[in-house]
Amino acid sequence: KPIVLSGAQPSGQLTIGNYLGALRQWDQMQDAYDCLYCIVDLHAITVRQDPAALRSASLDSLALYLACGIDPARSAVFMQSHVPEHSQLAWVLNCYTQFGELSRMTQFKDKSERHNNNINAGLFTYPVLMAADILLYQANQVPVGHDQKQHLELARDVAMRFNTAHGDIFTVPEPFIAPVGARVMSLQEPTKKMSKSDENPWNFVGLLEDPKMISKKFKKAMTDSQDPPRVYFDLEQKPGVANLLSILSGVTGKSIDALVAEYEGKMYGHLKADVADAVIALLEPVQRKFTEIRQDQTTMEQVMRAGAAAARSRAAATLAKVNEAVGFVLP
Ligand code: TYM
Repeated sequence: KPIVLSGAQPSGQLTIGNYLGALRQWDQMQDAYDCLYCIVDLHAITVRQDPAALRSASLDSLALYLACGIDPARSAVFMQSHVPEHSQLAWVLNCYTQFGELSRMTQFKDKSERHNNNINAGLFTYPVLMAADILLYQANQVPVGHDQKQHLELARDVAMRFNTAHGDIFTVPEPFIAPVGARVMSLQEPTKKMSKSDENPWNFVGLLEDPKMISKKFKKAMTDSQDPPRVYFDLEQKPGVANLLSILSGVTGKSIDALVAEYEGKMYGHLKADVADAVIALLEPVQRKFTEIRQDQTTMEQVMRAGAAAARSRAAATLAKVNEAVGFVLP
């Protein structure tokens, strides 16, 4: 089976953006692919984290992966920090990545503006660690949201560069980006992406949020002042409405065209209420499973230990090839 690797940062509560852009694909890929899903805690500390909050967000993420359908019997689920090979390969790949390439990463440019009191070296080399995550497992497909496309291109470039220098060591990975839901936008500022680490909680909907709060957030969502208001899909002129339509389409599986026809002549409030209801219905079983799993410490520990053990043996095999290829004396 082709190999899949993906991950999410435990830098806050996973959102409906993470679900539609990533987790749902992760779940659906489990039958046809050999899947590894990690909680990328090493990536999360590129921005200052409160240690207790990071630990609890990492465990919440693990329980949420499982609640969203990731099945530890079919997929390896693990904490990135439990597999030291990620950091080890990242170092080697740092030496095969150019300063100029990393300087062009739009996420680095954004984050170094937002966290301009902490532009650390880890934030800069973040995409190299991400390349290591992927290349360690010889992943063929990497299911991600649209915002990770540039990082994936870098991972491909680094893999090809290394292969050119040292022979066929790495599989060159392909991004797997869903046609709907790969770009869920902020509810208040619909021209920027929805982000779990946004300082304004009205901008995102967390997977564990209370249904009443979810309704409020959608009710307050930014639309536009077109008069009379009309529901149709126009990313440029009507980004708020387009985002609501995309979310509804992602959640219900109905096409945007079908939805536009359905809301002909209806008010924005109608659309907002329906999106809220659809999201709440989607999350109800996820939240129920989450509560069950999160309390079950034995299962949580078993899953992450087994996941790390499975991941480690595969990661070690790649790292050994890399170490040999670059000329390190084998231990
Ligand atoms: P992160 O933690 O920001 O997001 C996890 C996944 O969710 C997707 N995503 C979105 N999709 C649609 N709409 C949104 N608003 C939205 N926000 C986030 C992301 O594209 C991602 O797929 N660097 C990665 C984590 C990572 C990784 C990896 C991913 C580290 N190593 C290896 C794949 C393979 C990140 O920060 O994702």
